[in-house]
Amino acid sequence: MTVLVTGGAGYIGSHMVWELLDAGESVVVLDRLSTGFEWAVAPEAKLVVGDVADRDLVGRIIRDNKVDAIIHFAGSIVVPESVADPLGYYENNTCKTRTLIETAVREGVPHFIFSSTAAVYGGAGLEPVREDARLAPESPYGLSKLMSEWMLRDAALAHDIRYTALRYFNVAGADPKGRTGQSTPGATHLIKVACETALGKRPFMQVFGKDYPTPDGTCMRDYIHVSDLAAAHRLALQRLRAGGESLVANCGYSHGYSVLEVIDSVRRAFGHDFDVRMGDRRPGDAAAVVANSELARKELGWTPQRDDLDLIVNDALAWERILTTKNSVRT
Ligand code: UFG
Repeated sequence: MTVLVTGGAGYIGSHMVWELLDAGESVVVLDRLSTGFEWAVAPEAKLVVGDVADRDLVGRIIRDNKVDAIIHFAGSIVVPESVADPLGYYENNTCKTRTLIETAVREGVPHFIFSSTAAVYGGAGLEPVREDARLAPESPYGLSKLMSEWMLRDAALAHDIRYTALRYFNVAGADPKGRTGQSTPGATHLIKVACETALGKRPFMQVFGKDYPTPDGTCMRDYIHVSDLAAAHRLALQRLRAGGESLVANCGYSHGYSVLEVIDSVRRAFGHDFDVRMGDRRPGDAAAVVANSELARKELGWTPQRDDLDLIVNDALAWERILTTKNSVRT
């Protein structure tokens, strides 16, 4: 049995590949390397460079490797970009996922794990959000993922395939063993931006808005360590293989940190101050987005191991330092 990981050369996908290999699984990665990196794929995994919507290629991969599960990360992930290019997002995230599900059904792959997002909820508020909360995506990105969830739901009713869709909150950090991490240039995510600023890769950073209805006026998010997220997928795989029913579950820690708390954590990890400026609100940001993660804990038996902001930040900063070395070796 082999697990097919799409987008396995990307940030979360490359952690998933290590998680599976560490657990003794056989892994094949399908990635077109548009934003991922060949070096990010663990050498023990087989890498195929190509597109998830290439029916013949995916069919061949499934048959040649006896794939019994697909973990689907490949897709576009930048919210403002999705507002500027909605049709591109619906094509890349929704249409291609439809084709991949169709190929999985045709080839008789029984298990499918899908990378969904908290963006399906829209502005969630200070209360931790449950899976049965109102679904109101505020961006084409969120809607492109929600439509994929719905396609999976309907396909699972009609065909012999079961799925788990995990709705990620704010994924951050890096492999504690330093094997992979967030490597995309021009990143916009808070912890990555703050680490880059601390290390002098950016002259300064901005806090986007300080007049939100939160305790310190800055936005609150539920930051989850990427290794805990990968572990949740591995448990979801085990559960599906043991006959578990299809499931949609949040992946977060159920508590939020403000932008200022995150920046303080980066200051502690770095040991020095860096230039942080107060800026205007960023369009589209919700005041708070925090998961209720009881379902994942109960159904998957998921017990997060790195639920600690300082730990997440330390791993992110350590990776940022490794990345500096990698880049300077290459240039
Ligand atoms: N922020 C700053 N300065 C920065 C970067 C971010 O103040 O330089 C703030 C943002 O305004 C926001 C918070 O930090 O309040 C977190 O922002 P991120 O960009 O790190 O993450 P988002 O919460 O905007 O987005 C994340 C995922 C998306 C997903 C969304 C769902 O990255 O993929 O959560 O809620 F869609």
